[in-house]
Amino acid sequence: RQNERESLYIILNFAKNFYVQQLHESDEGQAVGLSYFKERGFTGEIRKKFELGYSLDTWDAFSKVALDKGYSSQLLEKAGLLIHKEGSQTAGYDRFRGRVIFPIHNVAGKVIAFGARILKSDKSKAANQPKYLNSPETEVYHKSDVLYGIFQAKNAIRQLDHCYLVEGYTDVISLNQGGIENVVASSGTSLTVEQIRLIGRFTPNVTILYDGDIAGIKAALRGLDLVLEEGLNVSIVLFPDGDDPDSYVRKVGAEAFKIYLKQNSKDFITFKTEMLLQDAGNDPFRLAAVIGEVVNSIVKIPDAIKRQVFFHRTSEMMKVDEQMLITEGNKLLRKLH
Ligand code: CTP
Ligand code: MN
Ligand code: MN
Ligand code: MN
Ligand code: MN
Repeated sequence: RQNERESLYIILNFAKNFYVQQLHESDEGQAVGLSYFKERGFTGEIRKKFELGYSLDTWDAFSKVALDKGYSSQLLEKAGLLIHKEGSQTAGYDRFRGRVIFPIHNVAGKVIAFGARILKSDKSKAANQPKYLNSPETEVYHKSDVLYGIFQAKNAIRQLDHCYLVEGYTDVISLNQGGIENVVASSGTSLTVEQIRLIGRFTPNVTILYDGDIAGIKAALRGLDLVLEEGLNVSIVLFPDGDDPDSYVRKVGAEAFKIYLKQNSKDFITFKTEMLLQDAGNDPFRLAAVIGEVVNSIVKIPDAIKRQVFFHRTSEMMKVDEQMLITEGNKLLRKLH
């Protein structure tokens, strides 16, 4: 088992080096991949830091080289790099073809998977293929445990005692390009406890930067109670509709972006309460439901003093008696413990 994991790390690292080399040294990589990254404003330094690469648009450019080197097709398949159809006589074909490559590292810096983005210009493909193709779950890659960028971000997170959480690979990279290094991505999924605990190893302070669309907001809300239960202090910043952190920082520049973060950061309980209140309008039944839901979130906070602060704050927002919230909260707390 241990040996198999080691073999996977080795072949994944080999693949990473191959993709990096193809990006910089092949004609196709330069013409297609490198110019794509440059268009997005990713400098050489940043490409190096995140070990960005390119996979050639052929069926077996990678696996041919890997098999020649003596790696077995079984290993390539287990690493998620080779797709082999049941019963087929051929070795199989490369999973990643004609895409720019984002290696995914574990906390220790080992490559454990890849995200691969289709190129904008390739309209014929874009029509019926997903924008991002990712490695499948493997012995070393469990998507729900991983945060993209954690290896590159961990020192900055510890130093600044703060972590930004974004949705996408390119958000992480663009913020780095703008000098914001304490940033990781959930890679589009809703947050898991494992991901939150991973952040918690380096800091209790998290600010969620999500796309300013309804899906982004809903995804953020789903993550809330989990984050609170782990004792993390969480704030959120939303971006103007249609923008994500990447597009926004490119639009306004790094300095204005940092000011925007400061001015629009809201603690998550306050944010959630505002959202729910807006939805409920003046309907007393819906208001009652909102109160219940807010109390439900507050009691997830392990720290009693912090709970008290939020009972106070939200009672004012919802215009209800603070003592009533505390009484309701205590009932729930007794049920929890
Ligand atoms: N994602 C994915 N598969 C998809 C779409 C998205 O795995 N088909 C994940 C990727 O990790 C992606 C993240 O969800 O980075 C956020 O998705 P999205 O906002 O659509 O992509 P961006 O990161 O903004 O990428 P780009 O700016 O290149 O469009
Ligand atoms: Mn989105
Ligand atoms: Mn996005
Ligand atoms: Mn984007
Ligand atoms: Mn009070």
